[in-house]
Amino acid sequence: MRRPLIAANWKMHLGRADEAQALVRAMMPALSRIEQIEVAICPPFTVLHALFDVLRSSAIALGAQNMHSEDKGAHTGETSPLMLAGLCQYVILGHSERRAMGGTGDTDEAINRKVGASFAHGLIPILCVGEDSGQHERGDTDVFVRGQVESALQGVTPEQVASCVVAYEPIWAIGSGKAANPADANRTIGITIRGAVADRFGEEAAQAVRVLYGGSVTAASIAGFMAMPEIDGALVGGASLKPEFAELVAAAVPS
Ligand code: PGA
Repeated sequence: MRRPLIAANWKMHLGRADEAQALVRAMMPALSRIEQIEVAICPPFTVLHALFDVLRSSAIALGAQNMHSEDKGAHTGETSPLMLAGLCQYVILGHSERRAMGGTGDTDEAINRKVGASFAHGLIPILCVGEDSGQHERGDTDVFVRGQVESALQGVTPEQVASCVVAYEPIWAIGSGKAANPADANRTIGITIRGAVADRFGEEAAQAVRVLYGGSVTAASIAGFMAMPEIDGALVGGASLKPEFAELVAAAVPS
């Protein structure tokens, strides 16, 4: 059985300790009553320590939104896996907003190195994949997403793959208010993403890896995604920035 995960991606919001702690404290009572679903908060780097202090006594996990693949070095402005190990359980890798940064962003090779580094330091990657609107309209989703999964997971062991999290986030659905159809997301996750994992790492890893859907998920839409057999939760951006995020998580619990 795969334990559902709902991860909050705060992006470049709520980066002051007072505002980040206030939001988490407002949600904690409601979130701690929900045992069936694991919750992770991925805030900006500036408040990881502040939230670590608030969350250490709770079951709510903490995640970073990116990291460098090297332990240390002359990389101004970067954050190393060593700095995150012990502070976070999760790290979002290869978010489309970072892949879109071109030369300075996440190439497939860089993401693959980061995935390896996350496992080496005991961090669970939340590996983001997903097609853009042109690929979606041309029917190229399966080939493109499969390629992203294969390249990100090169050199990883089946056991590591089994423990990792993949987030299927169609780029056209992110922040657009137009979520994917749950049945379509279920198909891409089941056939394309689990299929790619099965081909490379075996059926056991494919059945163990948790795969989330992300892109304009709301409290009103989450149940439709959770009802799908291949979807193990969600990566939530905009709807995770308010105390009502706790209602979204509550709505994800199977009735
Ligand atoms: P959204 O963002 O929920 O605001 O669409 C999701 C994401 O980018 O992870």
